[in-house]
Amino acid sequence: MFNHRQKIVVFTGAGVSAESGIKTFRDSDGLWENFKIEEVATPQAWRANPALVLEFYNQRRIQVMNAKPNAAHLAIAELESYFDVQVITQNIDDLHERAGSKNVLHLHGEIMKARSEQDAARIIKLQNPALKMGDLASDGAQLRPHIVWFGEEVPNMEMAYMMTEKADIFIVIGTSLNVYPAANLAYYAPEASKKFVIDPKADAFGLNVDYTVITSTACQGMPGLVQQLIQQLK
Ligand code: OAD
Repeated sequence: MFNHRQKIVVFTGAGVSAESGIKTFRDSDGLWENFKIEEVATPQAWRANPALVLEFYNQRRIQVMNAKPNAAHLAIAELESYFDVQVITQNIDDLHERAGSKNVLHLHGEIMKARSEQDAARIIKLQNPALKMGDLASDGAQLRPHIVWFGEEVPNMEMAYMMTEKADIFIVIGTSLNVYPAANLAYYAPEASKKFVIDPKADAFGLNVDYTVITSTACQGMPGLVQQLIQQLK
């Protein structure tokens, strides 16, 4: 008989990379406590002080390059041996890819890439961690980080909705669900799908659809959930 592989969509935020040493945004001592969004992560900031914006993301890039995938990233990648898996991440790091996940959709861009400030489709992969003023794209325009800033469209959002609507199993990990439109995804999985949320603060989320809440860190919670999902296939 034709064996239909179940589709798992894993929706991640900064919390999945916290145990790799990358700070989240809104926890105490999070990134947005130490930097002002309007000075480093908006189109206005880029126009006012592009060198400062480049330096902010250069620091983020070095941090990502020095980090390693953790047990949660690895557990998500392991699911691919058993399920049809799509990762949708708000993270700009490449730790899902380095853990082995093949299908990763980035909603907020990718720190290891840059693009022309004139042409959003002209994207390059960065080899060098430092992007400087005067580094140009092939159209002669200044390169900017390939990041979705506050106030910009999220080009991959429609794709993310479509993927989520097909989920048999939907897992949310390590996101405060504060930033829209990304946070909408928590409500896009089909009613009949099994839904899980893993986050130390998940109890307080008040998700008003039927989620199994796992109040733990990503590394404590995700390997166990993955084993449970694999066991259910047997
Ligand atoms: P937040 O910093 O808003 O939320 C992080 C979530 O991770 C919180 O719910 C924490 O409880 C949880 N958390 C902390 N440590 C954890 C751990 N070890 N394991 C699991 N969960 C843990 O980060 P995001 O929701 O990802 O956008 O933020 C969304 C967007 O806001 C980001 O993509 C970024 C930011 O501004 C842009 O820069 C465009």
